[in-house]
Amino acid sequence: MPDSSTGTGRVAAVVIMAAGAGTRMKSSRPKVLHQLAGRSMIAHAVRAASTLDPDRLVVVVGHERNQVQAHLAQVAPSVSIAVQEHMLGTGDAVRAGLAGLPGVTGTVVVTSGDVPLLEGQTLVDLVAAHEQQGNAATVLATVVPDATGYGRVMRDDDGTQVARIVEDREASAAERAITEINTGIYAFDAAALRDGLAALTVAHDKGEYYLTDVVALIRERGGRVGAHELADYLQAEGVNDRVQLAERSAEMNRRILRRWMLAGVTVIDPATTWVHADVDLAPDVTLLPGTSLEGATSIARGAVVGPDTTLIDVEVGEDATVTRTHATLAEIGPGATVGPFSYLRPGTKLAKASKVGAFVEAKNAQIGEGTKVPHLTYCGDAVIGDGVNIGAGTIFANYDGEHKYVTHVGAHSFVGSDSVLVAPVVVGDDAFIAAGSVVTDDVAEGDLAVARGRQRNIAGWVSRRRHKAKPENKGEENTK
Ligand code: UD1
Ligand code: CA
Repeated sequence: MPDSSTGTGRVAAVVIMAAGAGTRMKSSRPKVLHQLAGRSMIAHAVRAASTLDPDRLVVVVGHERNQVQAHLAQVAPSVSIAVQEHMLGTGDAVRAGLAGLPGVTGTVVVTSGDVPLLEGQTLVDLVAAHEQQGNAATVLATVVPDATGYGRVMRDDDGTQVARIVEDREASAAERAITEINTGIYAFDAAALRDGLAALTVAHDKGEYYLTDVVALIRERGGRVGAHELADYLQAEGVNDRVQLAERSAEMNRRILRRWMLAGVTVIDPATTWVHADVDLAPDVTLLPGTSLEGATSIARGAVVGPDTTLIDVEVGEDATVTRTHATLAEIGPGATVGPFSYLRPGTKLAKASKVGAFVEAKNAQIGEGTKVPHLTYCGDAVIGDGVNIGAGTIFANYDGEHKYVTHVGAHSFVGSDSVLVAPVVVGDDAFIAAGSVVTDDVAEGDLAVARGRQRNIAGWVSRRRHKAKPENKGEENTK
């Protein structure tokens, strides 16, 4: 980590504007609650802002604010909420944000809830530049290939200060040709911001108060306004519709994968591999194509995951292999092998060197060290000891239509193929279940349980049946 976060003064407050409707998302969900890499846009924004360690972090909510507030209470309970009653523009949003910060002095950073790729370090650099230049306001600016829709940064003739910001729809043809844009992210001196906001007027055809007009107002009052240039313009790209949501998601994923690859993870096909922001990977993990790692998944050194595997909140131990598997809230121990075609549901815990194989579904199941559940099994509500073999097609019948019960299988037991273990039932250590048994009673340690119809063989039955079925053979003697 570079050390540029030190040596700057404290940031008094960050105000995150997140009250807008996000109409173009065409969603019943507020825009800032849509997710990228497993986190909402507002959670990304709060995380970036938190890098500044501000005294106060204020999120301005408005449209569908109950949903946004409830979400923030979960993911960022320490943030303050400010309510913007009517959507009267970005100037009005910041005014609402400052209303809860009476008498605030020092640096106030303003940012947006819909710029998910923005990195905390960029804000740290913005604040450092703001303070070094002694500015009353500093605009985070960047040069983009297509500036359509953005406010343009109008510099003084000598280029050092920002004179004003012109919105795209109000810009002349000459102004539109400028490719340096306002990212909508700023550092302000609190007093200059407050004075500027107080002087704002609704001078636009949209009937909104533009935060961008504060720039010119500060200049009029003799304040210095600078620009801090962001080289990595992709960080400033917003999300207005689902197309942009997908584009920003893909870019975020590329960045996450790049970080893990540089940290020693092999990613065979970055184009089809998706890793959420909160996932943790050790060096020498290998991710095969079509792998999606979600939530708080963590993977230890040497493990191989994929192809075509989705892990949600799963812990994978060292040197485990997980092939063509779908798993949620499961623990896969070191050296364990899972798949192909396994389904691990919440509460599944595979101990060291155990195996869950093809077409096996497990739920709330503890599978002991070295234990194998190799083929075609439903393993629900099970506690299985070490060194057990569960035969192909075994069913742990855990549900009687009303309640669920647990099955215990002791260490070093053997369950023959196509058995049904009807819970609640306890199979002791070193026990043996004959294939095809329906086990309803406990089996003591070391015993054999046979719970199926006994086989009987009827001599000559086939040939007798054939003769009966063919009347033309009636005259022939059956010598057998
Ligand atoms: C704004 C800037 C523009 C800049 C662009 C960068 C203004 C007037 N223009 O334009 O110069 O290039 O951002 O993306 O500021 N919001 C509220 N309440 C409101 C209106 C907006 O909270 O009443 C929030 C929105 O939810 C959003 C942010 O403010 O998070 C920006 O608003 P938006 O309408 O997207 O501004 P732009 O037109 O993109
Ligand atoms: Ca916008």
